[in-house]
This record gives sequence, C-alpha cells and structure tokens, in this order.
Amino acid sequence: MCGIVGILGQHQVAPILVDALKRLEYRGYDSAGIATVNNGLLDRRRAVGKLVNLSDVLVHNPLAGLAGIGHTRWATHGAANEQNAHPHACGPVTVVHNGIIENFRDLRETLSAHGYSPVTDTDTETVAMLCAHYLAQGHDPKAAVQATIAELDGAFALLFLFEGHENLMIAARKGSPLAIGHGDGEMYVGSDAIALAPMTDQITYLDEGDIAFITRDGADIIDATGAPAHRDIQRIEAQATVIDKAGHKHFMTKEIHEQPVVLSEALARYAPNGIPALPEALDFTKFDRILMVACGTGYYSCLTAKYWFEQIARIPCEVDVASEFRYREPPIAPRTLAIFVSQSGETADTLAALRYAKDQADMIVSLVNVGTSSIAREADLALAILAGIEVSVASTKAYTNQLTVLALLALAAAQAKGAIDDHGLASHMKDLRQVPDLMRQTLKLDNDIASLAKTLAPAPSVLFLGRGVMFATALEAALKLKELSYIHAEAYASGELKHGPIALIEPALPVVVFAPHDRLFDKTVSNMQEVMARHGQVMLITDAQGRASASDGTHSLLELPATGDLSGPIVYALPAQLLAYHTAMAKGTDIDQPRNLAKSVTVE
Ligand code: G6P
Repeated sequence: MCGIVGILGQHQVAPILVDALKRLEYRGYDSAGIATVNNGLLDRRRAVGKLVNLSDVLVHNPLAGLAGIGHTRWATHGAANEQNAHPHACGPVTVVHNGIIENFRDLRETLSAHGYSPVTDTDTETVAMLCAHYLAQGHDPKAAVQATIAELDGAFALLFLFEGHENLMIAARKGSPLAIGHGDGEMYVGSDAIALAPMTDQITYLDEGDIAFITRDGADIIDATGAPAHRDIQRIEAQATVIDKAGHKHFMTKEIHEQPVVLSEALARYAPNGIPALPEALDFTKFDRILMVACGTGYYSCLTAKYWFEQIARIPCEVDVASEFRYREPPIAPRTLAIFVSQSGETADTLAALRYAKDQADMIVSLVNVGTSSIAREADLALAILAGIEVSVASTKAYTNQLTVLALLALAAAQAKGAIDDHGLASHMKDLRQVPDLMRQTLKLDNDIASLAKTLAPAPSVLFLGRGVMFATALEAALKLKELSYIHAEAYASGELKHGPIALIEPALPVVVFAPHDRLFDKTVSNMQEVMARHGQVMLITDAQGRASASDGTHSLLELPATGDLSGPIVYALPAQLLAYHTAMAKGTDIDQPRNLAKSVTVE
C-alpha cells in the first residue's frame, strides 16, 4: 500500500527519493510523486503508473532541492491519475499520506467556508488544506500540524514539508507505521526501514500518536498527549533490509525457493530439540478454545490450523476473516486464546480485530513476519514466523512458515491437553521435520508444473477442490491464481461439489484436485470421478499411492512425495504457488506486483 519517504539531505534529494521509493515498490502502488523545497519554494513532480514514469518526468523536468518527500500511491479516494497522486499541496505546505482520513468530507465543508476548495478527489488534500488554513491563521508549522492532526479521524501516517523551511519535515503516526532514519548531518523518514536501508541502519520507530519534528540535527518527538517523548534508536541488521532477487527472475520465485531454508529456521527456533518449545507464557492448559483471525493468505493458514487444533489437540477452534470479525463483534467465551496472523503485522482489519479481542480473550498471540509491527507490539505474545522479508505481493514463504508455527502450536496444545502421547508427538514431529526435504523434492518438479500451467493459462476459469486440510490448500491455490494471472478461480470443499459448482463442469473448465493418499482420498476421488463423468478436465495433484489408484481418466497429474497430516498442506502449497506463477508467466502478467494489489493493506 502507499509508501512514504522523506529526506533532509546534503545532496540533491530527487534521485535519492526515487531510489528509496523503489524499495517500497513491493507494497503495491499505481502512481508516484515527489516534492522538494528549494530556495524556499515548494515544487513537485508526479506520474501515473510505475516509478519509471516518474523518473522520465524528472529527466525532462528535474526537481532541485536538498529537502524532499516522496510517495507511492495505492488509490483509495479517486482514480489513479496525476492529479490525485501525492504529494498534495495547498499554499505553503505539501504532504504525503498513507491511510484514510475518515472525516475528510466534513473537513472539506468546514474549509470551504474559509475559501478552500479541493482540486483532487483525495482525502489527503484535505490535510494540506487544513494545515495551510492554520498556517494562514499565524500558526508556525509545528503548531499548524498539531492543530491539523487533532482534527483528523482515521488511521494514517503523514509527512509534511513547508515553503521557506529547508530544514524541517514533520511526521505523524496514527495507525500506520513510520520509521525515522538518522544519518550523518542528514535525516530520513520512511514507511519502513527497508526504504532507508542504503542511507542508514539507525532507525527510530514512532509510537501510536507520535508527532516528530525533524531537522538535520535529529528528531524531537511528542506523544499523543503532546508531551516530549523519547524513542530509542535501533540498529537494523543489514540482512533484514536486503532486497535482492538473488538471480531469480522474480521475487516470487526467489521466495518460493527459499521455503525449505526459512522453514528449517522456524523449526530450529520453535522446536530446537525436535519437540515444540514455545515461550512459557503460552500455557495451553489455561485455554478451552481458540480463536484465529487474519486476512488473505493468513486466513487460509488459520483455516488449515483449525483442522490441526481440533483433530490433534481436540480444542474447539473458530476462524474468521478480520473484516467480518471486527464488525460482527462476537462474544468471546472465557478461557479463549486469540491468535492473529499477519505477515506484515500492519493489516488494518486484523489490527482492529486484535484490539476488539484484547479485553475479552484470555491471551492475545500474534504470528507476524515483522517484529516491529503494530500487531506484534499490541499482542501479549508475538511469535515471529522467521520467513525473512517477503517482497512479492503474493505471499508464499510467509504462508508456509505461518503453517509451520501453527502446526507446532497445535502440537504444543495437544501435549498440554494430554491429547497425544509421546509416540504421537514424535510421529507428528517426524512428519514436520521432513518438510524441508519434501519441499526440495517438490521444487524439482518446477518444469512439470510449468507444463501443467499451460493448461490453465488459456482457461477463463479454474476450479480447485480439496477435502479436510486440503480444502484450505485449494482456497489458497485459487487465491494465488487469481492474484497472479487474473484468471477467475474458485475453490470448494470436494464434498460441496454436488451442491452447486458441478453445474459449471464442462470440457473447458480445468478442475485442479489436491488429494494426497490420506484417509479422505477415496472420498475426494469419488468427487473427481463425478467431474470426469461430465467431461471435466481434471488435474490431479497427489502422491505415488494416489497415482497408482486413481490416475485413470485424469487430464493431467502431478506426483508429489508422500506427506503426512502436518506436512501435507505445507508441501502441497508449493505446486499451488508454482501453478499460479507459471500461469502468470504464460500470460505475461506482472508477477511481483499484480494489478490493484498491495502487500500491506493498511486501510480497511
Ligand atoms: C494483502 C496481501 C496478501 C496478504 C493479505 C493479508 O492482501 O496481498 O498477500 O495475505 O494482505 O496481509 P497480512 O500482512 O496481514 O498477512
């Protein structure tokens, strides 16, 4: 979603701002812009589409200045056009923004009485107008920003630059994160530390409600009450900010191929001696039920884990998408453990859901990939999934690492509840520990999967089927295919086939069936046969035993290594990811940044 950068530098900032914005491209965006203050005057350049378009504009119409702010916009209010692109300006102030100003219509009305009329469709412009209004009333920039922020409803990160002030940026955080970077006689602001990585590894994260007044000498921060606040400077590990395709064509394939390694790291952290070793604070004997909430891919990892918590640990488990959960406002029963899963740790709906559950659930645990994120900080216990930076918008390694940590949680819960004996635990752990190897074997099937994708690429629609844990895999596979190839895809629990989707079956509809040879295999095969009897095109993803007993009549087949209850959905996620990847390659779509999608969805 929107990316923010700002620099008070010693050199011309325009190219450095564009470079920093490039490091935020992974968040997803549809226009970009920068503004500088030079010889006391503000000026800006903006362009629709990729950053290369902004660079082109700057080649023909350069922008001078040692102080500047920049932005990649993911449209919320108003189309993705140049006029709506940030920075937004009004008189002596310009601003970039991530988030939503919920009361912008009311503010617009009030401001129109003072002679301010908007020229864009955005909520952000209202912030510039409001700040300009306070400046016109004689406030200095600091007081004007404080007065402005006090009037804004919603969740946002804002960065301001002012006419006549070449040594001042003002940053404000309410709901969306902002990082301040400390350099040598220079200061920086970024949506995350990754944006600032080439310039500095010394980072201060703003807290909720903070406003930072930044000059080249440092940052003065006040908290939500207006009192001066101290925020530590942290040193960010270089490793944590490396964004590099490592020889791969796309971040997505790089991240798919990293899975055996990062998954081993999660296993080493949470099961160092071959059995689950989770923080002591997480005592499953205190809980009678589990609630899991997430969005997107994280939701599917929760759906998978529901089967594990219920079947292995015998704990009732409820799973919901955060956007529904937060407004449904369900009662949360006593002795509930609430788990929030979010790769970015900033997803607005998941954060709101966590806040709703906070006073009701006995304990809030978050599974995040970004340790400094809001969802990590607001949980009673944050478990890092240790996937490493995920740049591709479509989540891959974060998904399988979420599954791995959730599997270990389920085993820890089963142990604490006495639902498995030592033998059972050992056998599940053996299954889980073989996953990196099974993944490596599966990744060797890349060329076979690329051939299968040729069947999917021309299809207008694809149906995915799975039973039990494989139902969630089917859902994730359909999501991946939609995201990357823009092909309509749906997933059904195989048993639901007869209740509607069977009407869609015809030769042109590829039906991808995830069916390891487990105790539900024969049931799934019956459903598959119903598809084949109606001349549907079945692509069966199974193992050697499954191939031996059910390959007849299938259109195509992919044989994976044999898997178990825990390893199955983790390993089968790989062909789901690679099918989507190769279908997108065949269609020529934008793989790392699919249209309209954002990596970190900080608005609801
Ligand atoms: C966006 C991303 C997905 C992600 C979802 C939830 O839609 O494109 O890849 O699964 O947000 O994000 P989170 O960071 O909370 O896991």
